[in-house]
Amino acid sequence: MYIPITPVPGEFAGRRALVTGGSRGVGAAVAQRLISGGATVVTSARSWNDETPKGSTFISADIRTAESARRLVDAALEALGGLDILVNNAGAARAHFGGIPDEEWEDSLAINFLSAVRVTNAALPALQQAGRASIVNISSGVAANPPAPMLHYGAAKAALASWSKGLAAQLAPIGVRVNTVTLGMVETPGGTELLQSVMEAMGGSTQHAYSAIPLGRVGDPRDVAEAVAFLVSERAQWIAGADLHANGGA
Ligand SMILES: NC(=O)c1ccc[n+]([C@@H]2O[C@H](COP(=O)([O-])OP(=O)(O)OC[C@H]3O[C@@H](n4cnc5c(N)ncnc54)[C@H](OP(=O)(O)O)[C@@H]3O)[C@@H](O)[C@H]2O)c1
Repeated sequence: MYIPITPVPGEFAGRRALVTGGSRGVGAAVAQRLISGGATVVTSARSWNDETPKGSTFISADIRTAESARRLVDAALEALGGLDILVNNAGAARAHFGGIPDEEWEDSLAINFLSAVRVTNAALPALQQAGRASIVNISSGVAANPPAPMLHYGAAKAALASWSKGLAAQLAPIGVRVNTVTLGMVETPGGTELLQSVMEAMGGSTQHAYSAIPLGRVGDPRDVAEAVAFLVSERAQWIAGADLHANGGA
């Protein structure tokens, strides 16, 4: 069972954050954690739902194209007046048994990799201007060990982690820290649906998959939010280019 953590009061006071895919799941928990620490937060996704943090400004955007990524950043900068924290969390995965269609490769690269590159490039002048800025990219353990039905997703997340590492070295000298958080199984609307489809095809169950996690339970989105909160906080001021695995010890 997840043990709730009390945020440090005012930890993120005066900080302005954009969390992509912030409407639900991991992104919503990250946004809520930043808001609880005093940040002003913009969340984005294609559509809003009941899980979207009420304390955030929601901007609807499908960020699979360069133009829509740029428009999202423009709107977020207008709402926030600047940007200190960017969390590239939006992502999606569908398992394909018996072959991955070409359009799925393109779609997976667009949402799981290129969206982060494009949002970051559009946001970079504002992050540099803010000083002491921070970017966290959300990757997946599937990147290192992709099963056949998810090769497109694993390859896109591997590209994300590689880019994140290189970007960290490039941006550290201008005061922008870049880090990756790589996730294991986390109970979210998207994550659970995907795992169910894979386990059903293999004749297993989600509970069976969860039982293999060494720390004894599936991830809660708030587990990930704590990892992200640490990396974007001043407590991590000397950390760049890290890849923090939040996976219950898997
Ligand atoms: N849960 C896990 O076990 C797990 C494991 C490893 C990595 N991850 C990664 O963690 C991140 C969060 O995943 P999650 O589990 O929280 O998934 P989720 O519940 O499906 O949430 C995904 C978020 O991304 C948004 N999104 C999807 N497609 C989009 C698009 N084309 N344009 C803009 N926003 C889009 C979704 O909103 P809309 O659909 O309304 O656009 C939603 O806000 C993803 O990058 C995922 O790959 C998750």
